[in-house]
Amino acid sequence: MDRIRIVGGNKLNGTIPISGAKNAALPLMIAALLTDETLILDNVPRLADVAQLQRILGNHGVDIMAAGKRPGDHEYQGQTLHISAANIIDTTAPYDLVSKMRASFWVIAPLIARMKEARVSLPGGCAIGTRPVDLLIMALEKLGADIVIDGGYVVAKAPKGLTGAEIEFPKVTVSGTHVALMAATLADGTTVITNAACEPEIVDVADCLNKMGAKISGAGTTRIVIEGVKKLGAARHTVLPDRIETGTYAMAVAMTGGDVQLAGARPELLQSALDVLTEAGTTITPNNEGIRVTRNGAGINPVKVATAPFPGFPTDLQAQLMALMACAKGASHITETIFENRFMHVQELARFGARISLDGETAIIDGIPKLKGAPVMATDLRASVSLVIAALAAEGETMVNRIYHLDRGFERLEEKLSACGATIERISG
Ligand code: UD1
Repeated sequence: MDRIRIVGGNKLNGTIPISGAKNAALPLMIAALLTDETLILDNVPRLADVAQLQRILGNHGVDIMAAGKRPGDHEYQGQTLHISAANIIDTTAPYDLVSKMRASFWVIAPLIARMKEARVSLPGGCAIGTRPVDLLIMALEKLGADIVIDGGYVVAKAPKGLTGAEIEFPKVTVSGTHVALMAATLADGTTVITNAACEPEIVDVADCLNKMGAKISGAGTTRIVIEGVKKLGAARHTVLPDRIETGTYAMAVAMTGGDVQLAGARPELLQSALDVLTEAGTTITPNNEGIRVTRNGAGINPVKVATAPFPGFPTDLQAQLMALMACAKGASHITETIFENRFMHVQELARFGARISLDGETAIIDGIPKLKGAPVMATDLRASVSLVIAALAAEGETMVNRIYHLDRGFERLEEKLSACGATIERISG
C-alpha cells in the first residue's frame, strides 16, 4: 500500500491549481443517467472516486469516453468525460461497487425516474458516523416510489412514473437534496423542496440539469422548485472548482507560512472558511486568477468555530482547521454539528504532540509552538489531509500510511505541494 513521506518545516511558495470539485463531479456524472443523449463534463478531477463511479455507471451500461489532452491544454486541466446512458442494461447497483463509495447510492434517483425501477445496495463510504439514507428514501416515497429494503438492497418501483410533490427535509441534507432534485426533474408535475441544502455543488448540478432541459429554480436557496419534464437531453457543463481543496491548501499555507496563489479558486464558495483563516492571522487576497494566501512572521491566532451547512464553515474542512489550530497561540474550540464521530483525526494528530481534548461535539485544542513528525495513519478522506497539513509544519519526518483515502479526493496532492517547496514524496508498495 502506498505511503506518503513528508519532511516538515518548509514554507510554501508558488501556485497551486485548484481541480474540479469531487462533490459536484460525482452527482453530475450520475445525472447523465437521466438522459439517453450524451452529457459532456469538463474539468472532471482525476480521482479514485471518479474512476470508481465510472465502473459503477459502466455496470448500468453507461458508455464513458475520457477525452485525451488536446494541443494547448494545460497539464493541470481536468479531464473531459463524454457520458452516454443511451441504453441502461441493468438497474441494480451491487453491494461490491456501492459499498466502496457512499455517493454511488444516489444512482437510485435517476434510475427510478427514468427506468421506473432501481435496486441499489445500501452504501458504505467514509467512516464518519452512521450516515443513514432514510431522508433519501423519504424523498423518493413522497414522489410516489414504492420502496422496500430487501437483503441489504433498497428496491424502488414506480411503474407509472414519479409524481411531483412537496418534500420538506427535517434536517439539511446534501445527499437528500441531490436525490430529490434529480428524481423530480422527470416527475409528472411540480415538486417543491423546502429546507433544501444550499451547497454550491447543488447549484452546479441544477445548472447542468437545466442545460439538459430541466426546469429548476431556486437552487442555492432553501426552497427549490422543479417543474417536471418528459425528457432530458444532451448538454455540456464545466465542473466548478473544489472549495474543499481550496480551503485545504489555504490552511496548509496558514500552517507553514509563505505565499501561494490558489489558481482558479472562487472565494465566494468558501467565504466562511476564508473569514476564519483571516481571523487566524492569514492574509487572503481574492484576485482575477483565484485567491492569494499569505502568512508571514506572525503566529496563528486561536479561533472558535462550529461546522454548519453552507454558507457556514464546512464539516469537510474541520479536520484541517484542527491541524492548523494545533500550533495556535492559545486554546481553540471546534464544534462538529453535521456528523457525529467525525473526530478520528484527533488521536492521530496527538501523535504529532497536538494537545486536543474532546467534550461531546467540541474539540478543545491547546496550541503548542511546534509539532513533531511521527508515523500516522489516514482514517477518512478529510482526516487524512489534516495529517498532511500537520506534517508540513512539523519538525522532522512523518510517514502517512493508508493513503488511499487521499487519492479518493485530492488530485496529485504531493505534486501540487512539492511544486511549492514542500518535501513530500509518495512511496509505492
Ligand atoms: C455530502 C458530501 C460530504 C460532506 C457532507 C456535508 C458528497 C459526495 N459528500 O455528504 O463530503 O461532508 O455532504 O456537507 O457530496 N442524514 C440523515 N439521513 C439521510 C441523509 C443524511 O440523517 O437520509 C444526516 C447525515 O447523517 C448527516 C447529515 O444528515 O448527519 C448531513 O448529511 P448529508 O448532507 O446528506 O451528507 P452527504 O450528502 O452524505
